[in-house]
Amino acid sequence: MTKEAATATDAATAQAPGRINIIGEHTDYNDGFVLPAAIGHKMTVQARRNGTPSTVHLTARATQQSFSFDLRDFSPVEKGWPNYVMGVVSELQKLGGVISGFDAEFESDVPIGSGMSSSAALECSFALALNELFGLGFDQWQLIKASQRAEHNFVGNKCGIMDQFAGVMGKKDHVMLLDCRSLDFQYFPLELGAYQLLLLNTNVSHSLASSEYNTRRAECEQGVHILQQEYPGIANLRDVNLKQIAAMEEQLPEHVFRRCRHVVSENQRVLDATKALLAGDFNAVGELMYQSHFSLQNDYEVSCPELDFLVQQTLDKDYVLGSRMMGGGFGGCTISIVEKERVAELVEEVSSVYSRHFGIDLTPVEVVIGDGAKVIRQ
Ligand code: GLA
Repeated sequence: MTKEAATATDAATAQAPGRINIIGEHTDYNDGFVLPAAIGHKMTVQARRNGTPSTVHLTARATQQSFSFDLRDFSPVEKGWPNYVMGVVSELQKLGGVISGFDAEFESDVPIGSGMSSSAALECSFALALNELFGLGFDQWQLIKASQRAEHNFVGNKCGIMDQFAGVMGKKDHVMLLDCRSLDFQYFPLELGAYQLLLLNTNVSHSLASSEYNTRRAECEQGVHILQQEYPGIANLRDVNLKQIAAMEEQLPEHVFRRCRHVVSENQRVLDATKALLAGDFNAVGELMYQSHFSLQNDYEVSCPELDFLVQQTLDKDYVLGSRMMGGGFGGCTISIVEKERVAELVEEVSSVYSRHFGIDLTPVEVVIGDGAKVIRQ
């Protein structure tokens, strides 16, 4: 990839959105398919050069928490948002980007821990802001991949490419079918007629999320390794079908078999849902969303009681076409397709049973499908 001609400035502001995902969960790091979209909720970063060779001051506006580090010598802290920013800086430096001292403030309305990818919003907004501020000239794909690697190397989450891709490439009113192997993608208008998307935030974020995420990734790799003994030509789960997995059930550890079955069936659901969406068959899309949820719950085991409860609550309501957990799992939101006229009714009914059952408030989140990350010229 080539660097685009770029000039440095004294100050730069960039925004990057969160994302939703219609279907295709835990498929991205298995070279599969996903169907995400960027949303109106976003992170905003304002950065300016501070005249020092290597001092960085960061401030989170909402909490007024600050963090400083030296560009010549920095490494991950135990946990928290500084790792995402330092990770991005480190990856841009590895690409040859020359960065000097800067101050930056950021704020966001993407709910943290909601499965709407506040992390990628933080990474991508910093990647864009620094690219602009220092005239680094990296293209969108370099920034997407640098943001993903930041999460691998500084945060320790071996995430796939979906969140950073959606955050940068998003297009207003469109979903994107991304092939995570070739990185080819297509935009499709999201027109749901009398229906709309609705997120319901469980307001729980179980601590298992990060460690189990990496465990799932390793289990998929283990599955591929065993499958390769029978099918030497395969590189990963993208290359096998359900029949081939079923034929290897005896050889695969029981839980690994179920992980593989989820990934392979979920890839097919993404392709089927895309076709159904284009044909305006929202009932079929909804049905595939339910299947996705049950596969994530039972085969992949990344759901939690709160998410399962919310999906369960929609099953007997004919004005909800589909519902499932969204994102990495272990908390966060469900995403549902609901008849527009009856959204308020659903929210009222489900909120009251949810808070009675768990003693936690539910937060409905209505999203608009927005554009991807951008630099705001001043
Ligand atoms: C998180 C990761 C993504 C993806 C999803 C699950 O959001 O960052 O790469 O794997 O979980 O689909």
